[in-house]
Amino acid sequence: MEDALVDKSVDKEFPVFSPGLEGVIAATSSICDLSDTGDILYRGYSIQDLAKNATYEEVAYLLLLGKLPNRKELKKFTSELARKRALPDGVASIIHKLPKNSHPMDVLRTGVSLLGLYDGKHQETSKEANLERAKNLIAQVPVLLTDFYRYARVLKSIGADKTLNNAENLLYMLTGKHPNDLSAKVFNVSMILYAEHELNASTFSARVTASTLTDIYSTITSAIGTLRGPLHGGANEAVAKMLLEIGDVSKAEAWVRAALSRKQRVMGFGHRIHRTAEDPRSAIIKRYARELGENTGKTKWYDICTAIEDEMHKQKNLYPNLDLYTAVVYLLMGIPIELYTPIFVCSRLAGWSAHVIEQQENNRLIRPRSIYTGPKNLQYLQLDERS
Ligand code: ACO
Repeated sequence: MEDALVDKSVDKEFPVFSPGLEGVIAATSSICDLSDTGDILYRGYSIQDLAKNATYEEVAYLLLLGKLPNRKELKKFTSELARKRALPDGVASIIHKLPKNSHPMDVLRTGVSLLGLYDGKHQETSKEANLERAKNLIAQVPVLLTDFYRYARVLKSIGADKTLNNAENLLYMLTGKHPNDLSAKVFNVSMILYAEHELNASTFSARVTASTLTDIYSTITSAIGTLRGPLHGGANEAVAKMLLEIGDVSKAEAWVRAALSRKQRVMGFGHRIHRTAEDPRSAIIKRYARELGENTGKTKWYDICTAIEDEMHKQKNLYPNLDLYTAVVYLLMGIPIELYTPIFVCSRLAGWSAHVIEQQENNRLIRPRSIYTGPKNLQYLQLDERS
């Protein structure tokens, strides 16, 4: 199957050069389809249906195991994840010694690496071993995050609540309050929408790392480092800061114009793939952002975003991506801004792990080329001959 899809006309000695690998097909995958129909499919299922009906656990099961669980399978999977939440003692005590002003993304990058150190068999890379570790990470990374955050802010430590599902428990441990139904639903939707998105930069880096046949902790550590940047996962935090800076809907239009005239990128807009049409994830989270705003009587952030959206469309013909209205949702939930990208990590663990398993099941080392543009044939001078 894969052989039939390979473009034999590509000259291996002089392959096509595409900066940023734009338009390059680097893998076959049955995990996520960014279809041309304006929808995104996880293992064949529309994200519209998944966001409306499923829990994060259901989606994680789907991504990792390739099929939707039946009632019994889902119950087992959900309680297994809830049981796996406790951190190894060694990891918890190291996390409580890290500098309190560390960015939580740096803590997660370090924390996942630590979880590998405390896993006596971390070098195992069979499908079964990777699946087991994927479940551990999905269960433990949210606790790693909330544990560090509560320690750094000198807040009362909170244990995980086994009666809550993954999204509810993360929100509970972040805010210290049991979420109401609407907040729990919207947070769950945001985690589903963040769970997977084909060969984005962080997933690609996880697959590159996996292609050396290394362990899953190394692949997820690579992915977290890649997600952190403002052009990728870091954009949701940048959007929230932008909204706070704009402060009022009456200032939105002028703010956008001024930013564009300085050639500044407006965070939460544009996408390498969803360029000429709206990111389907944005439309979903936008509806929930509006509902949450109306429900809490705080429509200010939503209104600022719609004003920015209109102006960006007028000026640049650019559409919002998932991060714009997700920032509104998280602001309304009172989640501290530096935790937005880490929540993306907690969600994307399912997608990254599914890709690591898929890569290692049918592996070929990922090793592209570059075109050398530096000098050649320079004459080596001894140290005292150099100016
Ligand atoms: N604000 C202003 N202009 C933009 C933006 C933006 N957010 N995004 C793209 N453009 C403009 C570029 O300046 C360029 O214009 P030009 O042709 O006049 O020079 C044109 O659109 C094409 O941009 P590229 O840089 O070629 O697009 P690319 O595919 O490389 O970038 C990216 C995609 C990085 C996401 C970009 O749109 C961006 O920087 N967006 C802001 C960051 C962001 O929101 N990231 C989140 C991505 S979604 C996610 O991770 C869940």
